[in-house]
Amino acid sequence: MKGNELVRAVRKSWQSQPTLEGAGVHLRRGFGFRETELVDPFLLFDDFRSENPADYKAGFPWHPHRGIETITYVLDGDVEHQDSMGNRGVISTGDVQWMTAGSGIVHQEMPQGDARGRMQGFQLWSNLPRTNKMMDPRYQEVKQAEIPRVKTAGGASVRVIAGEIEGVRGPVRDVVSDPEYLDVSLPAGSSFTHPVPADHNVFAYVFEGEGRFDAAGPRDFGDGEVVLYGTGSQVVVSTDKKAVRFLLVSGKPLREPIAWYGPIVMNTEDELRTAFAEFRNGSFVKKR
Ligand code: CO
Repeated sequence: MKGNELVRAVRKSWQSQPTLEGAGVHLRRGFGFRETELVDPFLLFDDFRSENPADYKAGFPWHPHRGIETITYVLDGDVEHQDSMGNRGVISTGDVQWMTAGSGIVHQEMPQGDARGRMQGFQLWSNLPRTNKMMDPRYQEVKQAEIPRVKTAGGASVRVIAGEIEGVRGPVRDVVSDPEYLDVSLPAGSSFTHPVPADHNVFAYVFEGEGRFDAAGPRDFGDGEVVLYGTGSQVVVSTDKKAVRFLLVSGKPLREPIAWYGPIVMNTEDELRTAFAEFRNGSFVKKR
């Protein structure tokens, strides 16, 4: 190992919290509204896995977004989506929707679950820097089949949504915060080593099994836990008797002031007021 390859230690961890969102969706919030400095450029992470349609059927009816990107990753079930640009579609099992709201999108997201009533997925919000807050909105819609799966020498199986593993690049590209978004499955008794840019913030979200996210750490982390890393140039995750599955997400911090209300995130309170005034008077959407 070269001297500059510092393995990141776990800086902080916590359990995702039951939260009521949208029109009455019961989900678990990994973070949002509080830990913004620690997770910069990310703002919010929601886990909407449920076996019960009553938890998610109310959905997220028409609402605006400005100044951010929302990344929806569906593991199982359907999320119906419609927006002010006239798009209409379904994010289905294994699909990803990377939406750059930019200057403004009004949309609705309605989880429908699968035939058995199960809905499994995650939504991450990534902040846009000042210079890109008012960019034209856009989508990167990625179907399950377009997301490469890489088997690493260490035994991990990784779906590469954004970023790169062993020369294989994920389909989501050209995102301002230079994010990496990996879905990592690690069998029992194996390990996963992954380089990360030294200046990026990195977190993992565990959603199956248990794993050790820090060789020197006191314990393994399990379902529903957010693991936030300290500084360094690589992440090492290992397993003992159990397998683990987790998202590994990194991004370049923006270090800009945040003015945030609900689904709109700007740099100043004045920009927030303008956004909500525009939403009320019908001039919010700049590009249809
Ligand atoms: Co939304």
